[in-house]
Amino acid sequence: MTEHATPVADTDGFPEHMEIATANPGRAITVIAVSFLLSIAATFVLGWIYTQGGNPAIEGMMLAVVFGGIGFGMAAWGKWLMPKGPFVEEREVLTTEENQEKFAKTFTRGQVAIEGRRSVLLKLLLAAMGTMTAILLFPIRSLTGKNPDKVLYQYGSGWKAGSQLVTDEGKPVHSDDLEVGGVLTVFPPDSGDMAMDQTLLIRAAAAPLPFNPSATPGGYVAYSKVCTHAGCPVGQYQAQFGKLLCPCHGSTFDVLHGADVVFGPAPRPLALLPLMVDDNGYLRAQRGYDEPLGPGFWSRGGVR
Ligand code: FES
Repeated sequence: MTEHATPVADTDGFPEHMEIATANPGRAITVIAVSFLLSIAATFVLGWIYTQGGNPAIEGMMLAVVFGGIGFGMAAWGKWLMPKGPFVEEREVLTTEENQEKFAKTFTRGQVAIEGRRSVLLKLLLAAMGTMTAILLFPIRSLTGKNPDKVLYQYGSGWKAGSQLVTDEGKPVHSDDLEVGGVLTVFPPDSGDMAMDQTLLIRAAAAPLPFNPSATPGGYVAYSKVCTHAGCPVGQYQAQFGKLLCPCHGSTFDVLHGADVVFGPAPRPLALLPLMVDDNGYLRAQRGYDEPLGPGFWSRGGVR
């Protein structure tokens, strides 16, 4: 016949392994409840700050309290209020009526005690996790906003159809002004934003360039000086190689092939300003840039 160990019971009648780890469960429950309540309160503060326009530093702190409160509460609950274990035991065979009654009494008492002390904490935990889940939906609201529509395609250019090319002193540029290999920074006459409108005029050849002859009369080609990587002014022209360099991070553009990027971090070519020569021999823009200038845009359309 198998020997069965008799569970050790303390003065409350609980087997020793069913005892919780703290001698003061009331205080443990209070601490855990406060941590859950703090988490809930931080969630509401977080939501309020978000609706007021947001503050990353405070929002970060509130998120720490939200997650920290729940985490601490759950950890403390497991450490202080769960039975210590180990949870493997042998039990005596309940052969006698007396033993069966004793077992039923102990089981019921333990169940009521544990469930009673945990019901409030469980509700608080669910409330904390529910509000936390609700607050995580807030970023979805941030995804909505005004459709930028065509604004992205209109940004940053004072160049219009027929704009005359002028120097920074306002002098119109004539088609005889540059020798092959020469460069000049030009602007539209009425530029309101010279930093964005600055354009590099290059006499790359004596005849229109094969990649776009209708936009490069007399071998003149004009590109935006605003680098597509980080916006530095591109201006170092190596005439013998037909390459244009950005001084900031070394991006290199192929002048004779639509300013294609041949080296460096620039993600796309420089924007091309299509040129024409008017009846008096002065250089003008056929039209404005067909695309936004500088970095931060993800597609290139228009004339090449
Ligand atoms: S800004 Fe031109 S390469 Fe970086």
